Amino acid sequence: MAVTTDVDKVSILGKESIHCGFHLIPHIAHTVVTTLSSSTYVLITDTNVASFHLSAFESVFDQTLCKLPEQGRPRFLSFVIPPGETSKSREGKASIEDFLLLHRCTRDTIIMALGGGVIGDLVGFVAATFMRGVRFVQIPTTLLAMVDSSVGGKTAIDTPLGKNLIGAFWQPEYIFIDASFLETLPAREFSNGMAEVVKTAAIWDEDEFTALESRSASIFSAIQTPSADFAGRTKATRSTSQDLLLSVIRGSIAVKAHIVTVDERETGLRNLVNFGHTIGHAIEAVLTPSMLHGECVSVGMILEAEVARSMGVFGQVGLGRLTRCLKAYNLPVSLTDPRIASLPASKLLNVERLLDIMKVDKKNSGAQKKIVILTRIGKTYEEKATNISDDIIAKTLADAVKIVPGIPTKSPVRMATPGSKSISNRVLLLAALGNGTCRLKNLLHSDDTQVMMSALMDLKGASFAWEDGGETLVVKGGGGSLSVPLPGKEIYLGNAGTAARFLTTVCTLVQLSADSSAKTTTITGNARMKQRPIGPLVTALRANGSAIDYLEGEGCLPLSIAPNGLKGGRIQLAASVSSQYVSSILLCAPYAAEAVTLELTGGQVISQPYIDMTIAMMKSFGVEVVREKDADGKLLDVYSIPKTTYKNPEAYSIESDASSATYPLAIAAITGTTCTVENIGSESLQGDAKFAKDVLERMGCEVVQTATETTVTGPPKGQLKAPGYIDMEPMTDAFLTASVLAAVATGAGSVERNVTRIEGIANQRVKECNRIKAMIDELAKFGVETKELDDGLEIYGKPIAELKENVSVHCYDDHRVAMAFSVLASIVGGTVLEEKRCVEKTWPNWWDDLENKIGIRVEGVDLAGSIESTASPSRTLSKDPSASVAILGMRGSGKSFIGEMAASTLSWPFVDADVYFEQKHQIGVREFVHKNGWPSFRAAETEILKELLSTYPSGHILSLGGGIVETPEAREVLKEYAKKGPVVHITREIDEVVKYLGEETARPAYGEPVTDVFRRREPWFAECCNYEFINYTGLLTASVNGRASTPDEVNGDEYTASKSTFVRDEVSRFFGHITGQKPNLAPNLVADKRSYFLSLTYPDVTPALPHIEELTTGADAIELRVDLLRSPKDIGGFKTYVPPVAYVTEQVAALRRTTSLPIVFTVRTVSQGGSFPDGDEKAAFELFNLALRLGVEYVDVEISWPEKRIKSLASRKGNSQIIASWHDWSGKMKWNSVDVKEKYDTAARLGEVVKMVGKATFLEDNFALYEFVSKMRAGPNPKPFIAINMGVEGQMSRILNSSFSPVTHPLLPSRAAPGQLSFVQIQTALHLMGQLPARRFFIFGNPIAHSMSPTLHNTGFETLGLPYKYEIFETADVGEEIKFTIASPDFGGASVTIPFKLDIIPLLDVLSPEAEAIGAVNTVVPQMRDGSRILYGDNTDWLGIRESIRTRLPSTIFKIESALVIGAGGTSRAAIYALQNLGVPRIYLFNRTRSSAQALVDAFPDAHIELVDELGTWPGNGLAPSVIVSTVPASATSIDTSSESLYLPSAIFAPEGGVVVDMAYKPAMTPLLTLAASVPSGKRWKAVKGVEVLLEQGYRQFELWTGRRCPKKVVSHQVWAKYSA
Ligand SMILES: NC(=O)c1ccc[n+]([C@@H]2O[C@H](COP(=O)([O-])OP(=O)(O)OC[C@H]3O[C@@H](n4cnc5c(N)ncnc54)[C@H](O)[C@@H]3O)[C@@H](O)[C@H]2O)c1
Ligand SMILES: [Zn+2]
Repeated sequence: MAVTTDVDKVSILGKESIHCGFHLIPHIAHTVVTTLSSSTYVLITDTNVASFHLSAFESVFDQTLCKLPEQGRPRFLSFVIPPGETSKSREGKASIEDFLLLHRCTRDTIIMALGGGVIGDLVGFVAATFMRGVRFVQIPTTLLAMVDSSVGGKTAIDTPLGKNLIGAFWQPEYIFIDASFLETLPAREFSNGMAEVVKTAAIWDEDEFTALESRSASIFSAIQTPSADFAGRTKATRSTSQDLLLSVIRGSIAVKAHIVTVDERETGLRNLVNFGHTIGHAIEAVLTPSMLHGECVSVGMILEAEVARSMGVFGQVGLGRLTRCLKAYNLPVSLTDPRIASLPASKLLNVERLLDIMKVDKKNSGAQKKIVILTRIGKTYEEKATNISDDIIAKTLADAVKIVPGIPTKSPVRMATPGSKSISNRVLLLAALGNGTCRLKNLLHSDDTQVMMSALMDLKGASFAWEDGGETLVVKGGGGSLSVPLPGKEIYLGNAGTAARFLTTVCTLVQLSADSSAKTTTITGNARMKQRPIGPLVTALRANGSAIDYLEGEGCLPLSIAPNGLKGGRIQLAASVSSQYVSSILLCAPYAAEAVTLELTGGQVISQPYIDMTIAMMKSFGVEVVREKDADGKLLDVYSIPKTTYKNPEAYSIESDASSATYPLAIAAITGTTCTVENIGSESLQGDAKFAKDVLERMGCEVVQTATETTVTGPPKGQLKAPGYIDMEPMTDAFLTASVLAAVATGAGSVERNVTRIEGIANQRVKECNRIKAMIDELAKFGVETKELDDGLEIYGKPIAELKENVSVHCYDDHRVAMAFSVLASIVGGTVLEEKRCVEKTWPNWWDDLENKIGIRVEGVDLAGSIESTASPSRTLSKDPSASVAILGMRGSGKSFIGEMAASTLSWPFVDADVYFEQKHQIGVREFVHKNGWPSFRAAETEILKELLSTYPSGHILSLGGGIVETPEAREVLKEYAKKGPVVHITREIDEVVKYLGEETARPAYGEPVTDVFRRREPWFAECCNYEFINYTGLLTASVNGRASTPDEVNGDEYTASKSTFVRDEVSRFFGHITGQKPNLAPNLVADKRSYFLSLTYPDVTPALPHIEELTTGADAIELRVDLLRSPKDIGGFKTYVPPVAYVTEQVAALRRTTSLPIVFTVRTVSQGGSFPDGDEKAAFELFNLALRLGVEYVDVEISWPEKRIKSLASRKGNSQIIASWHDWSGKMKWNSVDVKEKYDTAARLGEVVKMVGKATFLEDNFALYEFVSKMRAGPNPKPFIAINMGVEGQMSRILNSSFSPVTHPLLPSRAAPGQLSFVQIQTALHLMGQLPARRFFIFGNPIAHSMSPTLHNTGFETLGLPYKYEIFETADVGEEIKFTIASPDFGGASVTIPFKLDIIPLLDVLSPEAEAIGAVNTVVPQMRDGSRILYGDNTDWLGIRESIRTRLPSTIFKIESALVIGAGGTSRAAIYALQNLGVPRIYLFNRTRSSAQALVDAFPDAHIELVDELGTWPGNGLAPSVIVSTVPASATSIDTSSESLYLPSAIFAPEGGVVVDMAYKPAMTPLLTLAASVPSGKRWKAVKGVEVLLEQGYRQFELWTGRRCPKKVVSHQVWAKYSA
């Protein structure tokens, strides 16, 4: 071998088969060829790796093989596959196998896997089964593959149902670890692998861990700069950082190799390497592919370490180190990391979901979950994973806690609190800036200190190391040498305020660095940090010559700071906002170019104790600050600091945090127990150390304070006393603790009104949050009153028993708010503290200490569901379809009108509360008020409400008085009822109400402006109702005011339904839907049918309404793209937009008015292809809730919204359905990938309908989609599934999709999505693809040459693009010809007319109940039942009659009391059936031949038919009919007495009006209809011509055959044209 290579060998399973080094390719070729003889060497890699490294392999192998004799010289082959997890599939495996077979590879083949874990797993599995197993070699190129996947012999592929489910244990012959490959690896992939490296060290080797935690920068640098000339191949050419990197990798591999050797098949020890993986995998399952494995495991490690901490076996010190170490490798350590939180999928992360996923982890045994528990860094609790119960995991994962109130079981408590944050921050900076080494003890492990340490490391200002298992931090000071970080590297400070303030001045001290081109230092933080003020400090520093720029908002972070900026001399600083500005300058002052004199301006200096603390600590580090005095010896706010450097003391012990100490002490105070806090006493540097003496003692506690300890004993519970005024200026941070105690301070000796007045804390408004406001708002939730002051607040104490329980406290991400309310929670039941993690700032294990050291129980709570339930408990919707409906609304809103109409369409009795009132009290409402006054009326009214609800719990419409919501009691009753039944708010524009009321006198006048009443009641209505019905102005004005309907709009001969019909339809649809009596869902939305919806993409739908019927041709529903709506004042270009609720309401109502098709309510977010802002969860759910209130049938909810929100929405959906949707616009979603299945499962869990949309790049993408859909369909109880690929390439998927395919229409302004097709286009395509065969339809009868039916149906078929043909089939009898026709496979259906309606029956298999009852069939439909074809006979004649009547009934007639049928032939049977179905209680029948009339009476024993002897006189002096149906030929009737024909007297038309139907076709105006038009009441009679009935029945027939609504407008237009021709 010409090339010398230094290789470190690691042994595994007894063989030294792992070779580690740099630039190993020649070594690999040599080793493989010489030790693994073969006829063929096959190298398999992916395109990414190939582009960097394949040619090197090719040439080296060429050279190596060339040296062998030509005879029998082995081949070298290479095969490159696409990169990424999707290649790790059955198809990927097959493609490699095919390659091997094609190249005639035999059993002696050596396969080399060059790449990351994907290549290793896949190629390894191929090797394991190819020719029953061939030898293979791993050449990992990612860090993850080097330290993890290549070692251990596990190989696997994924299936759509899960990752790594199919595979084998197959050990490679060699594993070549060439660390130089890492130089081309993307940084994120490197970090990904580091997670596993850190993991291994954490469970196994503390020394290794220490190296990792302190040397991250050096490790990174080994891969950041390419190694020239194969540097590193030999030990001599290796750099220190290369050495370090290799040793880290080798160390990690050695551990894994050892574990694998001991436990090859993973039975015990080997599962130690799963540390972080139990929870990590669950997270990965949700976040893949956006987050990488190592990133998820990193978060998993922290969470699993927290499990260990809550068990009390792992300390905070270890947890802090682990956190910092992972952060140092750019890994996320919490689910709130911006990289995770910004992902839409992160909203799906909740406790229940994660536990659910963990359940199916391969590594669990049964229901037990296994987690590797650390006891310290480098050591685990057991030599295997430990079984952990779900509640411990749940508690750790939960983002909120619930405190179980009680007496601390550990009393008398004795504890130390974490190191002081203020002292820790100061001492870190002092020691870092100082000369020499300093050992820090009791350092607080918090965000602030962590941020400070990593910032100081970024600035190369100091180095840190841990001793005593992390109890001691060894700081090697840099003596003030600091350098500008590398370009692009920002110093990120999270929300760590102290660090931000201190570091701002520190950054002015840095020096330009020789090895970096960066000219300034940038410090930044999270969103909240970017709002916190830093202005006064920056102003002071700028004035002193520093160049500091605000990069975003003026006065806040981020800042760009130029080096060498602190000139020194006289510095002026406004010190009335924060003492931290002062400390910041003081701490850095010794390093300024000149000695500093710091002058504080602005009068009041805030928090002097903190300034004194800084000065005292500087003194411990050898720098004496002099505070100047005036001539009289009075202290001035002027400080002189010498120019010098700090001298580090050998050791420094940090005091416990005095602010933190207030919480356990306060718990003792409030619960009447005893607590001692060590390490804080009278000698403390911290102002808050005075809290016990100055506050608790005054509130009645016994306080004993020594120099170094504080003990508090509370008075018996409930006896804390309100002290009146307290000045908390010296201990501002403790005011929150004082406030919660004040809330219950009512004991003996309390001042008047139990007031505690806290002042001197104005600075608390600009802390983590506005703390004064936070305390006021959160105390209010407990029912505690407060008053805000300029400089503080007053709190009025209440007895404990009067405080509200079950409060959910919002913590504003502020540790002090959370801990202070924990004190109150220890005595008030059910208190939940949201955002438990905010305590990490100063007391990360507070919750564990509260439970383990104080003895107050803490439970984890997932906030699932609670969000809405606290908002409004009344919104749960009823499932019981018979529950009575309560109707509310302003007087004049149309309650009675709508209510009566609803009652009529549901056939339920209507009860008017006013009428009921008058009956009960025997006095009118108006008089009652007059006599007894309003209050007693309201009381009586509330009684009536209760009575009505209990007397008529089901099957009634209850219309209530407008003022019923005025009393809280009635509102409670209504809210309670809303939990089980619909409470509907009828809304109407206030102007219309005012207009209407102007004329109304029946009820008491308001005595105040109606608009005021309206405004007052609106919120109450909203609070009490679970539904809203919009009563549209303009529609009802006429009918309500005049109690008469508007005349029909008659347009030529075409009939257009009257406005009252629309209202009736809308009322019928709405109440049918919300009660569940007749939910308005799309019948075609089922497995074996095709359904479609039209996407409306208008900013305002009203222009589309006149064409709605045309637009919705063939559609089963209308999708309203709410995100595309733009209210008129907002028209114009918007990137994102939230349409106002009122506007959306109007739009829905307008749509409702014109169509009864179900609505799909869609709010599409930007990331899913719409324009609704992704983050505005609140507004989105407000809209979804609105949709449910309006009775919208389908609500499309993206599954990226938080699952708990979706579930809570679903709990209120009533009879509406949720379409759970997921859209991928990136084109990355692969239909055969695991995550698609997961998305599907989530959606199927959350919705009744699943929608998944991807993007097609190739035609084949549609096949993958189709395959996925078929698989999901084949599962048990599949849900309707909308699956579509966007883009033109995806059109095929739109054609084949069967549930709710979104369609467009040529008339629409723009398509909702690229590639969208119209309904007609889809039908055409389906036909061409053989999915929609041609069919023939017929009319059987004689004579039928002039039938209108062919025009009717053919027009319909054509309009819908259906390949159907309707023909006339005139024949003498029902014989062979007809039999042959209906047996033909392309027979689609037939109309049957006189005289064959009876004769056809014997040829049919099944009759509808209606056809059976009427005894005639007019429609034949071939159907498939249980796999065989049958002929079904139906009758649509009666439906034609019924619809003609129903849709034309004047709105004043709620109920038809009686109806007249003239004639007793076949058609009259249909007429009687129709009237019976309409619930008409009395049917008069007139026929000249009485016997045939009697035959009809006998045929319908259930109908109340009464024979009429003479037209115009009604049996038993009954009411005149409001419906008349004539079934006799027109020629047989006359309005002329002298005629032979049947005489029709005008007396048959009652003055109240009604509907008259003449079944005769010709002429259009029959004698009956002519007469109706001529009577005085003619305007109130609606005439229905024979052709109209024909049309109505034809529409139903069309529906029976096609399953689609008939396009009525075009069809009737054509029919009328032909009729009139
Ligand atoms: N078998 C095991 O014990 C085991 C253990 C852990 C993980 N795994 C598996 O490993 C897989 C993940 O492995 P991974 O993280 O290496 O992913 P990977 O193989 O997909 O590689 C990550 C990316 O980096 C690219 N890449 C690889 N090396 C490169 C280099 N040197 N320079 C530039 N680009 C390079 C790849 O093309 C890919 O795009 C998963 O499928 C996982 O299931 C297996
Ligand atoms: Zn792993």
